[in-house]
Amino acid sequence: MAAQLIDGKAISAAVKADVAKEVGEFAKKYGFTPGLAVVLVGENPASQVYVRNKKKACSECGIRSIEHTLPETATQGELMKLVRELNARDDVHGILVQLPLPKGLDENEVLLAIDPSKDVDGFHPVNVGKFLTIKFYEDIMNMDLFLPCTPYGCMELLDRTGVDVNGRNAVVIGRSNIVGKPVAMLLMSKNATVTVCHSRTRDLPGVVRGADVVVAAIGRAEYVKGDWIREGAVVIDVGVNRTEQGLKGDVEFEAASERASHITPVPGGVGPMTIAMLMKNTLKAARDRVK
Ligand code: GUN
Repeated sequence: MAAQLIDGKAISAAVKADVAKEVGEFAKKYGFTPGLAVVLVGENPASQVYVRNKKKACSECGIRSIEHTLPETATQGELMKLVRELNARDDVHGILVQLPLPKGLDENEVLLAIDPSKDVDGFHPVNVGKFLTIKFYEDIMNMDLFLPCTPYGCMELLDRTGVDVNGRNAVVIGRSNIVGKPVAMLLMSKNATVTVCHSRTRDLPGVVRGADVVVAAIGRAEYVKGDWIREGAVVIDVGVNRTEQGLKGDVEFEAASERASHITPVPGGVGPMTIAMLMKNTLKAARDRVK
């Protein structure tokens, strides 16, 4: 069976179109447009691409993009000062400090300094803590908190593809704070039975074979083999790995497509969703201001 592709490009375009429409209505009603500040420190080429894409998405959605670029040599003090200034600005509703930061800068201190009500990345412990205390997904959606954009994007892909995880076995491979842990919690909030696997998991193939839904977020090219995928399973591949053969996901795509019912491609799957959900979070941040 050839799997149906979950088209992240098309779905992210639909999310951004919804945001653009709502931003237009919001601006008309309240007389201002949501603003997103993006801070880039140094010249990491991948980060420069991400920041460029974020700026483009802002313009597609009618969100003001406020860019701050600091040199590689910026000090912790300079970066902290900038974050405090952005926290204090009324025209900045969301703040995102692009990661990774250059060596020598303390990421944790910076993320903790961002006002949680502007933390559209959803990385601040206040936002993480808030969402962990709520049992069901619909209630999480209605709270004044921000979900991290990639896990939120995975959930939106499942939702818009019509995949219901209620009562199903979901296996998440990877336990990072940015993807693995939060996506596991979100799947649980939609009543999936969730297993989180990592480098010490025994018999990973056996565990994955029991999954109705697989979320791969380990960061190793084609680590998850096609024959680990149960017939009819849904596969969400969060991996973006640069190889000599080009960009590869964490899942052996061709072989997995033979067995899965639905699968995300790399590129063009989860990737575009992260920025779309960032746009959604920025609109939410502006809305929370007029509540
Ligand atoms: N670097 C790669 N992905 C992300 C992201 O989602 N947020 C931030 N701040 N930095 C990133």
